[in-house]
Amino acid sequence: RTVNHRLRNIILIGMPGSGKSAVAAALGKALGREVVEADELISQRAGMSIPEIFARSGEETFRKLETEVLAEQGKRSGIILSTGGGCVTRPENYPLLHQNGTIFRLTRDLAKLPTEGRPISQATDLAQLCARREPLYRRFADGTVSNDGALEVTVQTIKEALL
Ligand code: S3P
Repeated sequence: RTVNHRLRNIILIGMPGSGKSAVAAALGKALGREVVEADELISQRAGMSIPEIFARSGEETFRKLETEVLAEQGKRSGIILSTGGGCVTRPENYPLLHQNGTIFRLTRDLAKLPTEGRPISQATDLAQLCARREPLYRRFADGTVSNDGALEVTVQTIKEALL
């Protein structure tokens, strides 16, 4: 029996405001795993906040940094990775996330999605963004989990899906 099998990462994708960060934090606690926020690493790397990166360097620069961060984190093992909502817009991000990860897509009622501090959500009509992104989230996801109920329910659903 081999002892060096690698524990798959748990990757959360979904619309901005769907609760990826909150679910990642709760899952990290429940499973005793390290939680990584992709946007935090991008912001550290750029030395600016996410809205500043968009305002000063543009979305292309942000997406490049995002792909770099996902490439690094995707090689790791056993982490819980909360991604930015737009990571699905680059097809090359899929193998990076999927190589050692199980990808869960969180869904949440459009009316419940906050837009504060989110340049993409503020610049775009959310319903349109959601419609445009839906097929992309589907393509990336190994499973879809509703985050319309209590946080604990979402966490429990993901835990059971891992068994
Ligand atoms: C983005 C979502 C944001 C952040 C950036 C771009 C998007 O992350 O990565 O502002 O394109 O949907 P959240 O999903 O955490 O808001």
